Parts: sequence; structure tokens; C-alpha cells
Amino acid sequence: MIRSIVRGTGAYLPERIVTNAEMATLVDTSDEWIVARTGITQRHIAADGEMTSDLAIAAAKAALADAQVHADDVDMIVMATATPDDTFPATATVVQAALGIERGFAFDMQAVCSGFVYAVATADNFIKAGQVKTALVIGAETFSRILDWEDRTTAVLFGDGAGALVLQAGEGEGTTDDRGVLTSHLHSDGRYRDKLYVDGGPSRGTVGHLRMEGREVFRHAVVNIADVIDEALDATGLSAADIDWFVPHQANRRILDATAKRIGLPPEKVVMTVGQHANTSAASVPLALDVARRDGRIKQNDMVLLEAMGGGFTWGSALVRW
Ligand code: COA
Repeated sequence: MIRSIVRGTGAYLPERIVTNAEMATLVDTSDEWIVARTGITQRHIAADGEMTSDLAIAAAKAALADAQVHADDVDMIVMATATPDDTFPATATVVQAALGIERGFAFDMQAVCSGFVYAVATADNFIKAGQVKTALVIGAETFSRILDWEDRTTAVLFGDGAGALVLQAGEGEGTTDDRGVLTSHLHSDGRYRDKLYVDGGPSRGTVGHLRMEGREVFRHAVVNIADVIDEALDATGLSAADIDWFVPHQANRRILDATAKRIGLPPEKVVMTVGQHANTSAASVPLALDVARRDGRIKQNDMVLLEAMGGGFTWGSALVRW
């Protein structure tokens, strides 16, 4: 059977680092509070005029170089973002043009923090259907632009960044020994819209700001994430002991610790970047993947578990043999 095999990763973080100490000069907060409640110590913030597409293009170029794949060979770009450059066209098409690609197709995917897992699942299905051989899967965000910088309950939690993966069709036997995306599971439940949303958009006539009931999101996140991980393990007949690396959406250290404990994964198997990057929404999983691959943790044939949960609510998981 056809499998979608990871050929390379790339990432980009804006130059400017904002520490918790600097945050404390902007809102009534402290380094102690932010570290204790979230594990975040700093975040990267895009420069004035630096757009989501700029971050995405840098991450995409790094991923193509890592994969040793030429831009002309890319059949599909799927870009997860909730902070596109403009209302339209899709920011993925801006990336396509910047890479000099004149064929194939490019589109944005909007599932907020779950966007990258949605995008991997989407690209995998195009590849398995035989319509696409090489897919560039990107998560890129400038959440700093939709934060209410006077709201300490949300402003301290998010950062900007981008990550990308190159997926390519390859042959597999249809077993969990195959390299590639082995399974993916997506969910949404729109009844929870008001727990995490932006109070603006094209149809409302404003850009709006992020609003969140943090405690409610936390409560649902731990349950939904554990359930969707169980789904991935059940679908493949694997257990927590088979997972080499757990690369979760990086929202909050306490959510990641609680999830790892619940599914029985030791802390040393959890890739944790929330401390340095904060929550970069759809960019967080590919950023963490790139870090763990470049520092030598994730190696070929390792079993990697991805998950995410975000506004909607949306949530999902994927198991990938690297
Ligand atoms: N600095 C200092 N104090 C703060 C603060 C900040 N940045 N933000 C909130 N507080 C205060 C609150 O005002 C509250 O004070 P009060 O008791 O006097 O009213 C107190 O801290 C506790 O607030 P609460 O919201 O109950 O804290 P919490 O333990 O739930 O932690 C979050 C808040 C946001 C860190 C936590 O709920 C969380 O991580 N939720 C999930 C968020 C998330 O991951 N979202 C993204 C999903 S994609």
C-alpha cells in the first residue's frame, strides 16, 4: 500500500524573544506565575511587517533542503494557520509563489491549534489516494497579532513561529513496521465555540482578539487528548510502550505532564518546547518535531505520536513511523 513518508523537517522562529520579565512590564503578571502555571519562560514575536507567510516560507525552504526535494517536485501545499496574511488568497498560495512553484495546488487549513494534525491527515489521504506524490505540510502563525495585549490571562500564553514537513509517497506492506503515517484521527465539537475563539473576522468586520476560558479548555484538553490517543493506539494495535517519542501540541506544560501520565509515557519520551516557544498554535507540533529531529532524538524508524487540541473545539492524533 501507499504510505506518506516523512522526508524532511524545517522550522523558523522570529528573531525577537520576549521573556516573562518583559511580559511583566506589559501586563500585571510575573515570571513565577507564568512558569508555575504553564512552563513558559519566553516566546518569539514577529517583527513589524513580518507576516505569517514570511515565517512559513523560511520553514518550508528549510524542510525542502532537509528532504533534498526540489520545489518543482511539490504537488501540494497544505498550510495550517488561523492567522493568514490576508482574508484571501490563501497564505499557502503566497508560499507557493515564493518557492517558485507554478504547478500543483496550495490551500490553507483552519483548525486553530489542531491545524497541523488536520493538515498531516489531509496530505496523507491525498497521497494514499494516489493524487499527490510530494506534499509540503506547514503550520505557521502570528498569534501575537490577535492577542489582547491588555489581557494577562491570554497574552502570556502564545508566541509566533512556523514549522514544515515534507511527506512523500512510498511503498509499505500495510503493517505498523511500515515507515510513514500509520493512522490519523480527527474530531471537532462546535458546541464549545465560546470556550476559545476570536471575537472578530471578515464577516463581523473586524480582526478581533483571542478570548479563552482557560480552566474549561484545560479540563476538556486532558480528556479529549487522552481519548484521541487511545483511538490511534486501538486502530494500530500498538501500546504506549511502542511509542519512542510523544510530540504533542505545546499549549501548557501541565497539560502535557497530565496527558503523558494518563497514557503511561515516561517524561523523557515527551518532546517539550513550550518553555521556549510558548503556544504557537498550528506551528507548535512541526516546530517541536524539527527540534527533536535536529538534536538527534527522533531517528529513522522511531514511532512518533502526534496530538493537538484547539478552538472549535477541534482535536486529533496521528502515529508516524519516522
Ligand atoms: N499572571 C498572574 N496572574 C494571573 C494571570 C497572569 N498572567 N492570568 C490569570 N491570573 C490570575 C487570575 O486572575 C486568577 O486570579 P484570582 O484567583 O484572583 O481571580 C488566578 O490567576 C487563577 O486563574 P485561573 O484562570 O484559575 O488559573 P489556572 O490555574 O486555570 O491557569 C491557565 C490559567 C490559562 C494557565 C490554565 O487555565 C490553562 O493553561 N488553560 C489551558 C489553556 C490552553 O492551553 N489553551 C490553549 C489550548 S490550544
